[in-house]
Amino acid sequence: MAQLANKNVIVIGGTSGIGLAAAQQAQAAGAQVFAVSRTAEKVTAARENNPGITFDTLDTHDVDGLQALFQRVGKVDHIIAAATGSTRTLKPFMEQTEDQFMAAFNKFWGYCRVARQGVPNLTKNGSITLISGVPARKCGPGMAAVSCVGSAVEGLVRALAAELAPIRVNAVAPGIIDTAMFDRFGENKTAMLDNMGKNIPLGRVGRADEVASAILLTLTNDYMTGTTLDVDGGQLVS
Ligand SMILES: NC(=O)c1ccc[n+]([C@@H]2O[C@H](COP(=O)([O-])OP(=O)(O)OC[C@H]3O[C@@H](n4cnc5c(N)ncnc54)[C@H](OP(=O)(O)O)[C@@H]3O)[C@@H](O)[C@H]2O)c1
Repeated sequence: MAQLANKNVIVIGGTSGIGLAAAQQAQAAGAQVFAVSRTAEKVTAARENNPGITFDTLDTHDVDGLQALFQRVGKVDHIIAAATGSTRTLKPFMEQTEDQFMAAFNKFWGYCRVARQGVPNLTKNGSITLISGVPARKCGPGMAAVSCVGSAVEGLVRALAAELAPIRVNAVAPGIIDTAMFDRFGENKTAMLDNMGKNIPLGRVGRADEVASAILLTLTNDYMTGTTLDVDGGQLVS
């Protein structure tokens, strides 16, 4: 991982879960890491627990704020966009309102904003990594919106990889990963995740650090672009 020594890495959505784990691994690999998210409390907690990383408050939809961040960092080597950035409604397509369905796409628009503001500041050999998800290519009932957004993210990665080369653009597609995303289950979270893991070939849900190590590969492998790396315990093949 010596390739990340003295590189500047920006993580949008980097105070929790997959984004935070990627920020920590990039820092451990020698990078200067700048991580942002919306909530002041999360930024403060992440800052206290990770003194080597620069955390700040920023919404992925704040175009002026993104521009200011990229300019402040100056030489940007790698951008990781991991912000959820949307409200998703997990209901069958016919039971969702058009507004609910469209709202899920705010994750995609957030990624587009990050790319549009970030590219002018990226170094020639820089990279962008976006996070899609297993539903993009394996969609169960109630997952239509999440699946379409994931497909859009993976399509964007292929389109931008062709247009922006030699800047590299990749996606990482997590399966079910134990993060704050499942905090909505409250005290049932562990039991719910254990149960979900039973149907996965590897017999468990994943960890944020396992997704982060795939993200680090997209940062450091200079011949990888336009790809989607699956980190899902075999969910796609089950
Ligand atoms: N966990 C899974 O099973 C799973 C599976 C497939 C895909 N994914 C994808 O992986 C990515 C990371 O999710 P996670 O599981 O790591 O969830 P997480 O632990 O909830 O982390 C999400 C991060 O994004 C930030 N964020 C959310 N909305 C934002 C916004 N509008 N602007 C800036 N930051 C924002 C959050 O902080 P603030 O709330 O402070 O903004 C937090 O730092 C997401 O794109 C998610 O869709 C996750």
